[in-house]
Amino acid sequence: MSDEEHGAWGTDPADLPAPEERLQTGAPIGAEDELDRSLRPKRLDDFIGQDGVKAQLAIFLEAAKQRSEALDHVLLAGPPGLGKTSLAGIVAGELGVGFHVTSGPVLERKGDLAAVLTALEPHDVLFIDEIHRLNRSIEEVLYPAMEDFQLDVVLGQGPSARTLRLDLPTFTLIGATTRTGLLTTPLRARFGVFHRLDYYAPADLARIVRRSARLLDVEIDDDGAGALAARSRGTPRIANRLLRRVRDVAQVRGRPRVDRAVAEEALELLEVDALGLEELDRQILRRLAETFEGRPVGLGTLADSVGEAADTIEDVYEPFLLQEGLLKRTPRGRVATARAYRHLGLAPPAEVGQPGLF
Ligand SMILES: Nc1ncnc2c1ncn2[C@@H]1O[C@H](COP(=O)(O)OP(=O)(O)O)[C@@H](O)[C@H]1O
Ligand SMILES: [Mg+2]
Repeated sequence: MSDEEHGAWGTDPADLPAPEERLQTGAPIGAEDELDRSLRPKRLDDFIGQDGVKAQLAIFLEAAKQRSEALDHVLLAGPPGLGKTSLAGIVAGELGVGFHVTSGPVLERKGDLAAVLTALEPHDVLFIDEIHRLNRSIEEVLYPAMEDFQLDVVLGQGPSARTLRLDLPTFTLIGATTRTGLLTTPLRARFGVFHRLDYYAPADLARIVRRSARLLDVEIDDDGAGALAARSRGTPRIANRLLRRVRDVAQVRGRPRVDRAVAEEALELLEVDALGLEELDRQILRRLAETFEGRPVGLGTLADSVGEAADTIEDVYEPFLLQEGLLKRTPRGRVATARAYRHLGLAPPAEVGQPGLF
């Protein structure tokens, strides 16, 4: 897949649209990378929610420490902003080892990966973000490194070229991806541990909001935290971003603490609706319901109609709409559900409105 198609995932903050436009995607945005870093949980105990994942990781970490071995390679999957990068850092922190960060699109040549691999110390964690965007020839360098901790380096060119096999220290690769379906089977098979992060329940998001508020020195009451949690698309990064905007509103209004009224004023200002949907979410649903009049629509057509990349629709917007029962995938294409029609204030067409169908 080309970089254009993945535009929204580019690591260069300058490539990313303004925060207002991307509030809901959960992708980090330039200046807000800093916010992400400052609020990022450092220990497993600070990582809120995802209890199943945490319980398993705690065991694997403890076992690896007891055996004085590197932890098995870990694959983390899930939509942006759910804590993949945070968890990878936590694993390194809990193991007390070095944490090296890179990403699929950054590793352009085999030599880039070789440089990263040869810098590792025993048991270090190497985090490769957007690992589904690794190019195939680099992926092939990764296989022997993951499996046998060996790196083949080709010296010279043409007939005199020689291959040198280097031993690497044992290390843990943590890969993050928005969709496991985009990973090649041989790569996926080389991970011993696989975790999928799910959207957070409102109660967990409210805890995250309160934790972040403490760190940012913002006073927020339970109703205020609850209002933000309910409209954060199940995504901690969005909850944190909303909190920052809400802080602005509280400040300008001269309110010492964020309560429900301040939170709701800010959410309205940001055009975040009662379900946490933003303008582009609603646009997708409106296209399906109005422009295409309820007919099933292919992903490409839908993406074109809202001016977003198909991958972004599929990785970022659709999972939440599917989970909320607002959009449905059928063999013939995407359709809006009766709930989506009602949410938009439209009357569902007869067949959509039939109970049991959705
Ligand atoms: N479980 C969590 N508990 C507390 N904060 C979290 C949690 N998950 C994510 N966050 C917050 O959300 C931000 C984005 O998380 P991140 O790890 O960068 O997500 P991802 O890598 O999946 O896109 C982090 O900086 C952190 O502040
Ligand atoms: Mg990340």
